[in-house]
Amino acid sequence: MSTRHDPVDASILDEQLEYYRARAPEYDDWFERRGRFDRGAAATLAWHDEVALVRGWLATFELAGKDVLELASGTGIWTAELVAHGATVTAVDAAPEMLDRLRQRVAGTAITTIEADLFTWEPPRTFDAVASCFFMSHVPDEQFDHFLDLVAASVRSGGLVFLLDSARNELSTAVDHTLPADGDQTMRRRLDDGRSFQIVKRFRSDDELAAACNRHGLIVDVRQTPQYFQVAMGVRSRTRPRLEH
Ligand SMILES: C[S@@+](CC[C@H](N)C(=O)[O-])C[C@H]1O[C@@H](n2cnc3c(N)ncnc32)[C@H](O)[C@@H]1O
Repeated sequence: MSTRHDPVDASILDEQLEYYRARAPEYDDWFERRGRFDRGAAATLAWHDEVALVRGWLATFELAGKDVLELASGTGIWTAELVAHGATVTAVDAAPEMLDRLRQRVAGTAITTIEADLFTWEPPRTFDAVASCFFMSHVPDEQFDHFLDLVAASVRSGGLVFLLDSARNELSTAVDHTLPADGDQTMRRRLDDGRSFQIVKRFRSDDELAAACNRHGLIVDVRQTPQYFQVAMGVRSRTRPRLEH
């Protein structure tokens, strides 16, 4: 059983998007462990080792020639990985500042970008695979079924699903951030210039995540790296339950 979390005010989803739009120029500092995200040499080494582990898991999907939808693609850190595997990527994100950086990162490759709000966007067709990295923890409980329904609706029967996010670890976030207390699914994030924003951050246990995916016909294996990451990967079943929610 997971702790019950208080629903968030809808305005937090707007503030969260405002945060990511403003954060775009400094976003990669988190992934590269620079500035406020530098938690020391040992932590950085472990981080990059674990990124390599996750890259290895993604590689088992053999995405060459596959038509992949990436939800909340950000600056394209994982888009570049999908492209390197030979996938044709359609990347969706609500922040134009993120999509600009993504296009620069994968310049010269055939990529489709869509600027859209994932809390209302509907996929125009199905894809061979759907990937979403570091977004599901920004989806509050009351929207999580909608998000998983979007994932399931976007991938063809028998298609692949790859959901990556942070495991709960204080060292993962910036030195001036505090992770949510029990029962809270929000936290305050800061930018380098001192501005701060309230966003959603909801960690889910492996069992909770697997069960939620399963309810949407996503048959996933949920696993974690030693410290930093949680991955749900698997396939969409032939029959996708349509839930009342
Ligand atoms: C933590 S970042 C992850 C980016 C990228 N997938 C990665 O792994 O680096 C979250 C992303 O979600 C996007 N985002 C936030 N709210 C959104 C919304 N309502 N609809 C679509 N994208 C949104 C942000 O612009 C940001 O790019």
